[in-house]
Amino acid sequence: MKIYRANIIHTPTPGRLEIIEHGYIVVKSNGLIEGVYKDLPSDLDWRRQVMDYGDKLLIPAFNDLHVHAPQYRNLGLALDLELLPWLNTYTFPEETKYADPEYAGRLYRRFVHELWMQGTMRSAVFATIHPESTRILADLFIQAGMGAYVGLVGMNRNAPETLRNTTDELMDGMRMLKAHLDEHGNGLVRPIITPRFVPSCSDKMLTALGEYAQETGLPVQSHLSENRSEIDWVKELEPEATCYGDAYNKYGLFGQTPTLMAHCCYTDGEEMELMKQNGVFVVHCPTSNSNLSSGMAPIRKFLNAGIHVALGTDISAGHHMSMLRVMQYAIQVSKLNYAQTHGEMPFLSLSEVFYLATKGGGSFFGKVGSFEPGYEFDALLIDDSYLNYDHYTLPQRLERYLYLGDDRDIKRRFCRGVELTEPAY
Ligand code: GUN
Ligand code: FE
Repeated sequence: MKIYRANIIHTPTPGRLEIIEHGYIVVKSNGLIEGVYKDLPSDLDWRRQVMDYGDKLLIPAFNDLHVHAPQYRNLGLALDLELLPWLNTYTFPEETKYADPEYAGRLYRRFVHELWMQGTMRSAVFATIHPESTRILADLFIQAGMGAYVGLVGMNRNAPETLRNTTDELMDGMRMLKAHLDEHGNGLVRPIITPRFVPSCSDKMLTALGEYAQETGLPVQSHLSENRSEIDWVKELEPEATCYGDAYNKYGLFGQTPTLMAHCCYTDGEEMELMKQNGVFVVHCPTSNSNLSSGMAPIRKFLNAGIHVALGTDISAGHHMSMLRVMQYAIQVSKLNYAQTHGEMPFLSLSEVFYLATKGGGSFFGKVGSFEPGYEFDALLIDDSYLNYDHYTLPQRLERYLYLGDDRDIKRRFCRGVELTEPAY
């Protein structure tokens, strides 16, 4: 059992910050939270064991539910095109390099290290079509002690010859990755079924992935309704589908097992209804949607409909690995959307985006992202003393950290109760 004392801030519900000034979190030896207290229960004299973090902030760690590991080298580059030419011009050529496990290992080390640096303790990751490189990525997460869903990517059409796998290669690779993680994993790193998006995958590939989802219960991640040209193209490729989402649903890849769909900028009507019915998560990627001029996802509508929403960096269409940036953009884009719709869609509040970056995304991993009893203790200790030079309240301190802070302010990181030191790579 461990006890931590600090200024505790979390969001059990989206609309309100729960704040315990100089409170205590009691964490059991299995990494689960026993409880959060203003005063320690008096029948137990635990004072000797308390880790006292003084006036620092203790918040749930961040969860990035959509991120492309092999696009790390392109961060901050190549943002002058829309989605489809951007993929062909910049992204596919970079991903092709991951055929070389040596290159993959070198760049994936930097990627996992940076997730650690930014306080992102759990992520849902796209790798590439290459099984060996993808296994290396999964092993780096295991070594770091961080949680991740790692996706070997399926793509067998509309891509360079050198960046395609056959359905058989993909299924063999998936089975290998699953067997490897079943045997060597720590339960924190799991495979996820990852058709890149409908234009990349033939009917045969989507059918095989849907059957594999049904057979294994593994979760699914992909892209949905990101860009207008992409949506028109999907209509041509899948004329029988009633909407883009239905093109996944037909194959059992839309909520039949837990499912993440990134973007959803143009999701409405039938597609929104299907996501709600099937419990599909929207992963909102506002930095990416701004950079690729994709659009403004109607997050307020999704929340009002009771659809699960998480946040993603979507690097390197997103230009930064910090979830702080994603939260800032989520608020700012929602304000532009508010202005654009003449106030029809109220913008997102600070506590709402903080919820999305913690418990909203964390819920895809189970009881993660909040400090309620039974939740896994994933946390960041924040030293904001350089921002806190006058009499700021705790809500103001969180607000200033979310807008002005960065990775240097994170002093300790915990995932499932274990403090994670800097990866040795
Ligand atoms: N759609 C298909 N592939 C991608 C990708 O790599 N990034 C983004 N933003 N959208 C995609
Ligand atoms: Fe993406």
